[in-house]
Amino acid sequence: MDVYAEAVQRFRELYARAQALDIPEPTAMSLATADADGRPSVRTVLLKVFDERGFVFYTNKLSRKGRALAANPRAALCFHWQPLQEQVLVEGAVSGVSVVEADAYWATRARISQIGAWASTQSETMGRKGELERRVTEFEQKFADKPVPRPPHWSGFRLKPESIEFWSSRPGRLHERERYVAADGAWKHIWVYP
Ligand SMILES: Cc1cc2nc3c(=O)[nH]c(=O)nc-3n(C[C@H](O)[C@H](O)[C@H](O)COP(=O)(O)O)c2cc1C
Repeated sequence: MDVYAEAVQRFRELYARAQALDIPEPTAMSLATADADGRPSVRTVLLKVFDERGFVFYTNKLSRKGRALAANPRAALCFHWQPLQEQVLVEGAVSGVSVVEADAYWATRARISQIGAWASTQSETMGRKGELERRVTEFEQKFADKPVPRPPHWSGFRLKPESIEFWSSRPGRLHERERYVAADGAWKHIWVYP
């Protein structure tokens, strides 16, 4: 197995173990971005697809993170599954998923989440409390008895990894850190001090 395939397989196995845990949101990950000035920001999003092409999440492209990614299409992810005492860190370049892929995922979303995606101008200042509910009602009326179309500003991003680090807790804080990293077009595996 080549080095990258090994990293993908490791993540797949660990992710399956995390999803089998009785914990809320095992697919949650911290997503760090930086804007055009290099100013970092971080938030939680859900991992929706993982395969050898990368890590996919969905969001509002006009949100703070969306605007940061438009200006600087690089990001980092952090998974921490406390019961497993495992952390995975991923870094890489981000690009948009295809329209076909976004539409297919949109179709699986609950109607209320679809309405919410229209109602929420994510990351914008809200004039007053209650405005969101008013907008929800507005879009419920607009799309009454019709399928809710995917907003043009709502889509997915795929982070193509350039580095995947597996951190595994060990007694005495002598943790194990293994990093799979792309360098000069080839993937290599290294050990890192904890
Ligand atoms: C468990 C959890 C899962 C979340 N999943 C998503 C998600 O998949 N997509 C998303 O846009 N926001 C998600 N959010 C909300 C984000 O953390 C964040 O508040 C929002 O995307 C706005 O971020 P921004 O202003 O930095 O762009 C989630 C929050 C939590 C706590």
